Amino acid sequence: MRSHYCGDLNESLIGETVSLCGWVHHRRDHGGVIFIDLRDREGLAQIVFDPEMSEAFATAERVRSEYVLRIQGTVRHRPAGTENSELPTGQVEVVSKLIEILNVAETPPFQLDESYTNEEIRLRYRYIDLRRPQMLARLQLRAKVSRFLHQFLDQQGFLEIETPMLTKATPEGARDYLVPSRMHSGEFFALPQSPQLFKQLLMMSGMERYYQIVRCFRDEDLRADRQPEFTQLDIEMSFIDETIIKNLMESMIRQLFKEVIDEELPIPFPSMTYHEAMHRYGSDKPDLRVPLELTDVSDLMAEVKFKVFAKPANDPAGRVAALCVPNGQILSRKQIDDYTDFVGIYGAKGLAYIKVNDITAGRDGLQSPILKFLPDNAIEGLLERTRATTGSIIFFGADKAKIVNEALGALRLKIGDDLKLRQEGWKPLWVIDYPMFEWNENEKRLVPLHHPFTAPSDVENLEANKENCLSRAYDMVLNGEEIGGGSIRIHSPEVQSTVFRVLGIGEDEAREKFGFLLDALKYGCPPHGGIAFGLDRLVMLMTGASSIRDVIAFPKTQTASCLLTSAPSPVSQAQLRELHIRLRNPAKT
Ligand code: AMO
Ligand code: AMP
Repeated sequence: MRSHYCGDLNESLIGETVSLCGWVHHRRDHGGVIFIDLRDREGLAQIVFDPEMSEAFATAERVRSEYVLRIQGTVRHRPAGTENSELPTGQVEVVSKLIEILNVAETPPFQLDESYTNEEIRLRYRYIDLRRPQMLARLQLRAKVSRFLHQFLDQQGFLEIETPMLTKATPEGARDYLVPSRMHSGEFFALPQSPQLFKQLLMMSGMERYYQIVRCFRDEDLRADRQPEFTQLDIEMSFIDETIIKNLMESMIRQLFKEVIDEELPIPFPSMTYHEAMHRYGSDKPDLRVPLELTDVSDLMAEVKFKVFAKPANDPAGRVAALCVPNGQILSRKQIDDYTDFVGIYGAKGLAYIKVNDITAGRDGLQSPILKFLPDNAIEGLLERTRATTGSIIFFGADKAKIVNEALGALRLKIGDDLKLRQEGWKPLWVIDYPMFEWNENEKRLVPLHHPFTAPSDVENLEANKENCLSRAYDMVLNGEEIGGGSIRIHSPEVQSTVFRVLGIGEDEAREKFGFLLDALKYGCPPHGGIAFGLDRLVMLMTGASSIRDVIAFPKTQTASCLLTSAPSPVSQAQLRELHIRLRNPAKT
């Protein structure tokens, strides 16, 4: 049907007859001459219809936006002065003598340009949204990323192996999506939160190097960088340590950026412990492009009369931290009030601050509602430690460390954006030395910071020192996004049982849930480790999109539904009966 793609046209084709197929992007009537911008996957071509070609002209008069056409015509140079240097095909046009309407189209619900932002409408009419050149470019880039990764890993001797979708729960910290079994009344499969256990079993099977670009399912609260189903690049290797896998993965990501978007990432990626990241940035995925840091001032505030500070300063689980913003003095009262509301989202009960009007004037140069509570030595120590200068503003967080870190960590990024401090470029980072366990206040028990198959750094003292035990986990962070996470795994059945015990998983429960793993560990398990990257997040960063929804062809909404197909939806009584299910609250149909 076609001889060329629209986007292929250029001056080398002048004089040739071409056949093109595509959609009507724009149609303009210019005093007797009709211009159609015809669009296909590869670009736009300008087609001209002259009234002298009466039949083609009459048809061209009838077409509307998004009609599907096939045209035939001769390529010529655009008349002098009418070239469009912004368009790759902008030097030429096609004079058409033949036009065929392959299909008509109703008026689309929105204009196909970049300015349209109503996401609900975009998702409902996703097939139209994806016609927009920007969306197409994102999916094209995603395909290139995927192709590069396949090639790279193939060259490195990795085998692509598929793992089941109907499986048993794999704990990655989210809720499972369950699938009822028709054959086994009252029993359910879980969709995988990740292929974690299968890839470990593949190492025990002697596969040495495994990878898979694989869908994972997690029923969790959604955000811009989280979807209920998302794609991992999942990797596992035998007979390795942290250095081997981190170096290989670093070079893969570096080459990926170079090859696909021609961007250079630093060699090597810097590394930071979890402890340091939380301390300096209040986050285990710090965005190093924002040049602001938190400073610990607990020790300076331990003796002060201001209870708001003194109490957390003396609580082992508490923290008093300062965020010093150079030139932050320009922030208005209203902005400070807005920031106080903002940190409230993270549970902070207030946002004390000190404005530094004149650093040379001691106490008189400062302005703050809490100044009267602070003795001179606390103030001196504070100014020195935060490196405050004239014009700075210092914000404070005082509470449980978790709240302070989340609140000031988020404020740091917000102020970074508001004051345009965020630097350009790529700031990758490895975060290492995670604690093995973390106390979960809601469940009143220790939970794994990664998953329970992660090896401890100190096997000997695992049980005795569980609160402080570190793990052999590593996360790759890029520009404040956690793009990948992995670890060296436990390969001894005893250590695995000990970890289950520390997590409060009894022997019976461990058998029932992970008996197959504990058994497999007994039959010759090699030391192994791996990592998984969030492919959607990687592509989001590489395309500059602000949400992973923009790099997934058919994503779910923030409330985990699909506006295009109206899924999830009720099913018939007959289907439910087959699945042995009776509904507690029958869905409204
Ligand atoms: P983890 O849970 O850290 O590790 O997941 C790996 C990476 O997957 C991405 N990711 C997500 N992307 C979009 N939506 C989500 N809901 C979502 N959840 C996670 C992140 C994350 O870094 N089995 C381990 C890996 C391993 O140990 O090898 C795992 O799944 O970019
Ligand atoms: P108050 O004594 O409650 O009026 O608070 C005095 C100042 O301390 C106000 O600026 C509050 O915003 C701030 N503040 C109160 N609680 C906290 C907290 N937990 N962390 C940081 N600042 C706080």
